[in-house]
Amino acid sequence: MLSRLVLLSALLVFRVGQTKDIQECEQISHQNYECREIENFEQLSQYIQEDWQSVNVVNEHTGIENDDKPLPKLSKLLQLDLSQSGGMTLGRYGFRNFASLQRLNLTHCQLEELRSKHFADNASLLNLDVSHNDLLIIERALMRQLPNLVYANFSNNLIANVEFDAFKDLKYLEFLDLNTNEQENITLGSNANLRYLSISNNNVRDFLWCRLRGLPKLQELHLHSNWLEVLDMGIFYALPELRVLNVSNNNIYEIQRNLFVGPAPDVYPLLRVLDYSSNNVKALEDYVFSRLHHLETLNLWFNQISKVSPTAFRGLTELQSLQLQGNKIVQLPDEVFGNLTALQVLDLSKNNIRQLGANVFGGSVLRNLSFLDLSNNNIDQLHPLAFSSLPFLQELRLRRNKLTSLDIRMFAPLRRLRVLTLSENRLMDIEADLLSTFDKLTELQINNNQLTYLPVLEEQLLSQLRHISIEGNPWQCLCLDELTNWLHARLVSYATIASDYYKGRKPLCIVTPMEQCVRNLEAVCELGIVESSEQI
Ligand SMILES: *[C@@H]1O[C@H](CO)[C@@H](O)[C@H](O)[C@H]1NC(C)=O
Ligand SMILES: *[C@@H]1O[C@H](CO)[C@@H](O)[C@H](O)[C@H]1NC(C)=O
Ligand SMILES: *[C@@H]1O[C@H](CO)[C@@H](O)[C@H](O)[C@H]1NC(C)=O
Ligand SMILES: *[C@@H]1O[C@H](CO)[C@@H](O)[C@H](O)[C@H]1NC(C)=O
Ligand SMILES: *[C@@H]1O[C@H](CO)[C@@H](O)[C@H](O)[C@H]1NC(C)=O
Ligand SMILES: *[C@@H]1O[C@H](CO)[C@@H](O)[C@H](O)[C@H]1NC(C)=O
Ligand SMILES: *[C@@H]1O[C@H](CO)[C@@H](O)[C@H](O)[C@H]1NC(C)=O
Repeated sequence: MLSRLVLLSALLVFRVGQTKDIQECEQISHQNYECREIENFEQLSQYIQEDWQSVNVVNEHTGIENDDKPLPKLSKLLQLDLSQSGGMTLGRYGFRNFASLQRLNLTHCQLEELRSKHFADNASLLNLDVSHNDLLIIERALMRQLPNLVYANFSNNLIANVEFDAFKDLKYLEFLDLNTNEQENITLGSNANLRYLSISNNNVRDFLWCRLRGLPKLQELHLHSNWLEVLDMGIFYALPELRVLNVSNNNIYEIQRNLFVGPAPDVYPLLRVLDYSSNNVKALEDYVFSRLHHLETLNLWFNQISKVSPTAFRGLTELQSLQLQGNKIVQLPDEVFGNLTALQVLDLSKNNIRQLGANVFGGSVLRNLSFLDLSNNNIDQLHPLAFSSLPFLQELRLRRNKLTSLDIRMFAPLRRLRVLTLSENRLMDIEADLLSTFDKLTELQINNNQLTYLPVLEEQLLSQLRHISIEGNPWQCLCLDELTNWLHARLVSYATIASDYYKGRKPLCIVTPMEQCVRNLEAVCELGIVESSEQI
C-alpha cells in the first residue's frame, strides 16, 4: 500500500505537463472551477478562494473522502458536483462543512447511505441529485434536514423503503424522481407542493389512489414500467391538478370510465397527456374518455384492443394526437373519430383492419388532421368516400395492405396531400385521372404492387414530385423505360440503392414481345405478365 502511494505522488510530481494526472483547479467560467484528482475535502479546501461559487471535481485515479473536521473555507460554496469524483466516502461529517450549498450532484458516487447526520440543520440545499447510487432507504429524518429542497432525484438506486411522510415537511419540493428503484408500494405520504413525481420502473403492483391523497398540487405522475393491473377509481378526487399520467408498460387490462370522474360534479379533469401504451387493454368502452375535455395526447399503442365502441372517443374536443398502432382492431365503427376537430395525428398502423367505411371520420371536416397512418393492416375494402372529411391531410400511409384498385373519389378531396404511401399492396392499375389529383404530392411510394405500366405522364402531372419508389412491380420494360426517362427529366429521385432490385438480385422489369408499352389492363392480363413475373 505504501509503495503504491509513493508511486502515485511520484506521478504527481514528475508528470507535470500531462495535465490529466495532476491535482489542480482550473477556472471554467466566472466563479466556476473544475478541480482534478482531489482525494478529500481538505485538499479541496486548500484551493478554494473567497469568490468561488461552484466546483466540479473530476477524478480519474481516486475517489473522494471526507475528513471529519471543520473546514470553514468550504462554507461559501454554492454548488458542488461530485458526479465525476470516482466515488465518495462520506465519513461522519458528510456535507456539514458546506453551509451555503444550494446544488449538490452526487450521481455515480457509489453511496450506500445518506443520512440526516451528513447535513447541517436546516441545510440550504435546493437541488439534490443522488441518482445512480446504491441507496436502500429514504428516511424522514434525512429529508427533514433538507427543508428547502425544490428538486430531489433519487432515481437508479435500490430504494425499497420510503418512510411514510418522508417529504411532508419540504414546503418547496416540486420535483421528486424515484424511478428505477425497488419500491412495491407507494408510501411517500403527503407533500403540499409537489408537482412532478416519478415512481416508474419499480415493482409497484397495487395502486391505490388514496395513497396519493396528500399530493394536492401534483401535475405529472409517471408510473410506467411497473406491475400495475388495475387503476382504482377517482384519481382526480385525489389529484385535481393532474395533467400528465403515464402508466405505460404495465399489465393493465381495462380502462374504466369512472377513473376519469372529475374532482367535483361538472368540473372536468385537467389531464392533457394520458399514456396507456404497452398494456393489456382489450376494449374501449362507450364514452370511456368522455370527461377528458382537455386531453391533447392519448397513447394506446401496443395493447390488445380489438373492440372499439363507436362512442369511445366522444368528448375529446382538444385531442391532437391519438396513437392506436399495434392493437388488434379489425373493424372501425362509423363516426368513431367524428368531431375530433383538434386531431392532428392519427396512427392506426399495425392492426388487422380489413375495411374502412364511408363514415369512420364522421360527417364534419377534421380541419387539423394532417397525418393518418393506416399501414400494416389488411385493408382490402376502402370506401371511396372514407377520407372525404379529411381535406387537410398532408400525409397518408397505406403501405402493406391488400388494396387492389383505387378510386378517384378517394383522393380527390385530399388537395394538400404531400406524402402518399401505397407500397406493398396489390394494385394493378393507377389511372391518369387519379394521378392528376396528386398535384401537391412530393413523395409517392408505389413499390411492390402489381403494376405493369403507368398512364402516359403528361407534363402537368405530379408537378411537385421529388421522390417516388417504384421497384418490385412487374413493369413491362418498355413502360419502365418511359417512366424512368420522365422521372430523370423531372429530376425526381426513384432508386433505393440499397434494395435488391437495384443491386441486380431481383428483376426491375419484364421483357415482353410487344413493341411498345401496353397500357391496357385486359391486354396485360392476356399477356400473363404478372404471372410470369411471379414465377421469377
Ligand atoms: C449531475 O451530473 C450528471 C453527470 O454529470 C448530469 O447528467 C446531471 O444532469 C447532473 N444533475 C443535475 C441535477 O444537474
Ligand atoms: C432555514 O433556512 C432558511 C433559508 O436558508 C431560513 O429562511 C429559515 O429561517 C431557516 N429556518 C430555521 C428554523 O432555521
Ligand atoms: C433524474 O436522474 C435521471 C438519471 O440521471 C435522469 O434521467 C432524470 O431525467 C432525472 N429526473 C428529473 C426529473 O430531472
Ligand atoms: C405492499 O402492500 C401490500 C398490500 O397493501 C402488502 O401486502 C405488502 O406487504 C406491502 N409490501 C411492502 C414491501 O410493504
Ligand atoms: C411514458 O413512459 C414510456 C416508457 O414506458 C415512455 O417511452 C413514454 O415516452 C412516456 N410517455 C410520455 C407521454 O411521456
Ligand atoms: C358532432 O357534433 C355535432 C354538432 O354538435 C352533432 O350534431 C353530432 O351528433 C356530433 N357527431 C358525433 C359523431 O359526435
Ligand atoms: C387547429 O389548429 C389551429 C392552428 O394550429 C388552431 O388555431 C385551432 O384551434 C385548431 N382547431 C381546433 C378545433 O382545435
